[in-house]
Amino acid sequence: MTTVIDGKKVAASVIETVKAATQALATDAGVRAGLAVVIVGDDPASHAYVSSKSKMAKECGFLSIQHTLPEATTQEELAALVADLNADPSIHGILVQLPLPKHLNSEPIIQSILPEKDVDGLHVVNAGKLATGDLEGGLVSCTPAGAMVFVRQTHGEDLSGLNAVVIGRSNLFGKPMSALLLAANATVTTAHSRTKDLAAVCRNADILVAAVGRPEMVKAGWVKPGATVIDVGINRVPAPEKGEGKTKLVGDVAFAEAAEVASVITPVPGGVGPMTIAMLMANTVIAAHRKAGRKPPRF
Ligand code: GUN
Repeated sequence: MTTVIDGKKVAASVIETVKAATQALATDAGVRAGLAVVIVGDDPASHAYVSSKSKMAKECGFLSIQHTLPEATTQEELAALVADLNADPSIHGILVQLPLPKHLNSEPIIQSILPEKDVDGLHVVNAGKLATGDLEGGLVSCTPAGAMVFVRQTHGEDLSGLNAVVIGRSNLFGKPMSALLLAANATVTTAHSRTKDLAAVCRNADILVAAVGRPEMVKAGWVKPGATVIDVGINRVPAPEKGEGKTKLVGDVAFAEAAEVASVITPVPGGVGPMTIAMLMANTVIAAHRKAGRKPPRF
């Protein structure tokens, strides 16, 4: 029997841990965890994401601040806001929603966030800590951290002897995912668009993680029988079966056929997706604990 991971359920349990840790920090240390989310411009999808982040932060008991800046915001104005948030002791986490409008340069903005407040895990200090295996000292990018919760639930803490293949090498996902798997003792291959015979490489994976952004690219024949398959893709495709002009979300894995071969698989939607916001909350409460000199919860 194939296990289909219920990402909503796992995310809800992460949120319960966040709420308890937030409450404990308030009671024991008199500190309320604070998250500031910054959005620039009018992109509707980004606004929807940011609203759910701000809403979830409130639900967790955080001080939740949202800065909504106009499209015409200058680089200097945005940099000044980040500097203010860096200096604000009530803020433990800062997230600048990406992508920024085209006239703004995101990299210097992201790198200007204090690493200890970088709850997105995008600062080079946090990326460097992860790359050197310092998992306790830094903050890990939310989507790979969420995918790793599924891997730990399935295989435990120690992945010794297991082959893991990550398809995708982005700074936001592929690289940190590979680093997390390696830190857990997996034998890791980071595959990408230039990999020779990708199907054969994937068939060697006990843990296969797909983050390529190509709808249903990973077929059943790419999956090793009994493997764990984690699908990070979110692709909107036409769904004429639902009616003219309708669309649906699919992952990077051809779910129905891959589920016949895998032991454990994540669906899209409802797999990794719900974990991203949950891990953002987790990172914020971790950052707040560290700032208060207290041992943070583990997720
Ligand atoms: N836009 C889409 N996903 C993300 C994310 O995880 N972090 C930020 N900052 N922006 C995003």
